[in-house]
Amino acid sequence: MHRLTNRRILLGITGGIAAYKSAELTRQLKTAGADVRVVMTPAATEFITPLTLQALSGNPVHLQLLNPEAEAGMGHIELAKWADLVLVAPASADFIARLAAGMGDDLLTTLCLATDAPICLAPAMNQAMWRDPRTQQNLERLQKSIDIHLFGPGSGAQACGDTGPGRMLEPDEIARRCADQFETLALSGRYVVITAGPTREALDPVRYISNHSSGKMGYALAEAARDAGARVRLISGPVNLAVPDRVECVQVESAQQMLDASLAELGPCDLFISAAAVADYRPVAVAEHKIKKGAEEIMELRLTKNPDIVATVAASPKRPFTVGFAAETRDVVHYAQDKLKRKNLDLIVANDVSAAGIGFNSDENAVTLISSQGEQVLPQTQKQQLARQLINRIAEYFNEQAKTSGKDS
Ligand code: PMT
Repeated sequence: MHRLTNRRILLGITGGIAAYKSAELTRQLKTAGADVRVVMTPAATEFITPLTLQALSGNPVHLQLLNPEAEAGMGHIELAKWADLVLVAPASADFIARLAAGMGDDLLTTLCLATDAPICLAPAMNQAMWRDPRTQQNLERLQKSIDIHLFGPGSGAQACGDTGPGRMLEPDEIARRCADQFETLALSGRYVVITAGPTREALDPVRYISNHSSGKMGYALAEAARDAGARVRLISGPVNLAVPDRVECVQVESAQQMLDASLAELGPCDLFISAAAVADYRPVAVAEHKIKKGAEEIMELRLTKNPDIVATVAASPKRPFTVGFAAETRDVVHYAQDKLKRKNLDLIVANDVSAAGIGFNSDENAVTLISSQGEQVLPQTQKQQLARQLINRIAEYFNEQAKTSGKDS
């Protein structure tokens, strides 16, 4: 089921008594990490209310093909493109017939025509309707013409009192078969928390101490971890970047806020990556009002040490696999090795921030990934490309450790 993390499932519900099971199916797909959008035919709304599906999916339910409001937001073509997989459950005999005929006379059939995603059908109907040669011919025709996957039907007692084939499969079985449509990725189903960007340490209501971190490295890592199948949460200092699609983001300012947000994730977090440039010190006191310019030529600031976020995470009893960065301007690998040990990290990414064109606020980077066993140099390239290389290697170490510690799932 971990393969459903971050996957976009478009759930079509057609008119049939099995529609009541679609509520539980929606819940199960959501619990497995999928983003679910529901499309209902008019007949389906006679069996279960759109409100129930809206509450369970957390998204508005789509009902009509020509709805000016929906077309202005997520219209039918956007919905068709949005889906990684279209699942119709229950799929009635009427719906299957219209799909086989290539009709686009309602929102759901139109979406099925417009999508490039695989289409999965969980048929549900009376046993005589299922056995009817016209239904069987429609299914045969569909299977010959498009990439369609049939989930069931099962056989047994039916709502109408008959017994035989035509029962919709149970929601857990349908959800499992949906998961089987996706490959397992290096971080499938893992929860990855990544800190990114700078922190700001306030001096007064209008001034702060900060640094040149743009957040680009941390955000690129978030995208790469998401593409590796993980559920990802960014804990981000103030940056001018859009939050990547399918990534959760908590915005913070100070190191203390970043620490609090990080500690709040410690229970479920599998992998913590600290790419943020956290201020080591903050002003001892924050002035209530703007500090006025005085007669003195020199002004002294008193600073106090900030908590070390990554070291605190690594020292926690609920310790996730913990990866730090080391931004250094000299003896880069030596200082990084020292931080790896001192902060009790599993891995550290040594970043020479003295070199031009890499490190802070640039589009490219070059790093050395260091473990207790050795070093791997990752040469200069775009941060997105480097992030994918880093996530692949980090996932290898992480999965190896999960296997040996028995935490593998
Ligand atoms: O954001 P970009 O413009 O893309 O730039 C990327 C980057 C240069 C900021 C990034 O690649 C990087 O090197 N991040 C780490 C910056 C840093 O603060 O390094 P450090 O050597 O000072 O800290 C060592 C580790 O401890 C880091 O993982 C840091 O996040 C963490 N730390 C530091 C201080 C502190 N109080 N708490 C921490 O968790």
